[in-house]
Amino acid sequence: MTQACHPYARVRARAHTHTSYAHLIRPISPPMFSNQKVLVTGAGGFIGGHLVRYLKNAGAASIRAADCKPLSHWHQVHPEVVNLVVDLREKSACFHACREVDVVFNLAADMGGMGFIENNKAACMLNVLINTHLLQAADFWGASRFFYASSACVYPDYLQKNGDCEGLKEDDAYPAMPEDGYGWEKLFSERMCRHYQEDFGIETRVARYHNVYGPHGAWTGGREKAPAAICRKVAEAKIRGTHAIDIWGDGEQVRSFTYIDDCLKGSVLLTQSEHSAPLNIGSAYRVTINELVDIVEGIAGLKLQRNYQPHAPKGVRSRNSDNTQIKDLFNWEPGTALEDGLAATYAWIYDQVLAEDSGKARVSTVDSVALAG
Ligand code: NAD
Ligand code: GDD
Repeated sequence: MTQACHPYARVRARAHTHTSYAHLIRPISPPMFSNQKVLVTGAGGFIGGHLVRYLKNAGAASIRAADCKPLSHWHQVHPEVVNLVVDLREKSACFHACREVDVVFNLAADMGGMGFIENNKAACMLNVLINTHLLQAADFWGASRFFYASSACVYPDYLQKNGDCEGLKEDDAYPAMPEDGYGWEKLFSERMCRHYQEDFGIETRVARYHNVYGPHGAWTGGREKAPAAICRKVAEAKIRGTHAIDIWGDGEQVRSFTYIDDCLKGSVLLTQSEHSAPLNIGSAYRVTINELVDIVEGIAGLKLQRNYQPHAPKGVRSRNSDNTQIKDLFNWEPGTALEDGLAATYAWIYDQVLAEDSGKARVSTVDSVALAG
């Protein structure tokens, strides 16, 4: 399509004028985003749904929330914001969603835990369409900031083969050998953000999340990650009176798990900051999966037989976050105690299992929602 017949040709001219003055962009100051239009993509998902609530509570006056799922499938729906159901792999949908926004938080991705990303590599790589089209649209509309949710899956396999990973530093991402499929797409999209800032002036921020967990996320169906999966299995055993659970691998895989509140705080701090290089947002408290199960059993007040499944998806052997940079930048790091975060997560998942067992489809937060086009 030529510039002249492009439906947004007039605004594109305005946006280009804007981006050439990128050095005049002021830092965002409290109350957060009060004079800005904010877009959250992936808002029907786990982190995006929480982020909309967080931004609303923090004073954001104008929020647009976008996801491709029907509203009835969103983990959280906030009726007081504009909710869009759009497939953001489509360029036109991105131009629609980004219309006149100032800040974009891109959390939309076809993704899940190891059970999903190991078996859906092409689908994960197609997420490149979402971030690329969103960057094009955000730049076109003159947005000043663009946040991208990257992942610890960008870190090379060769640093995570043994059980003793002390912590992955941001610089460890290169020489690159990320998680096949999902991790390569994240690494590519990180670089796309960097080059959009260098070439067009839009301020981009990149968070590398380390296994984020909490209520209102995937807990069944194949996309759930270890914390939700283990909470579900223990809750099912408790409710149904069974005595054993399946655990993927030998249970000695090492991870750090980041509570949702820490993820939100870190993401907003990063977006407001002047730090444009990728930054770890993750807990630095590492545990084995067996230790994770111990904690959840303690919360539930039972002990279960563990059936290890050596051929299930396992991912890397050992992963942890090095938090030197985030502490230097914000004098803060994700610090919610794993026991506390898991207690909140277990309580929510326990209710979901109970509701499912009693024949209710799911515990939904959808009340009445005005769908804006
Ligand atoms: P999620 O699956 O709960 O949410 C992602 C949302 O994106 C979903 O609701 C999905 O419907 C939506 N989406 C997918 N394709 C879309 C499309 N074409 N158009 C519009 N919406 C689309 O995942 P999450 O845990 O909330 O993760 C949010 C972001 O953070 C993702 O980019 C993910 O890769 C990244 N991340 C998450 C974790 C984690 O542990 N949760 C770790 C690392 C990175
Ligand atoms: N999902 C899941 N379900 N994992 C289990 C289970 C189970 O029932 N039992 C044991 N595990 C083990 C997996 O085999 C893996 O070794 C470990 O728990 C962690 O699995 P996940 O939570 O599924 O994924 P991950 O930590 O390897 O990767 C996740 O975090 C990345 C960021 O740190 C994924 O969500 C990625 O998408 C994300 O980017």
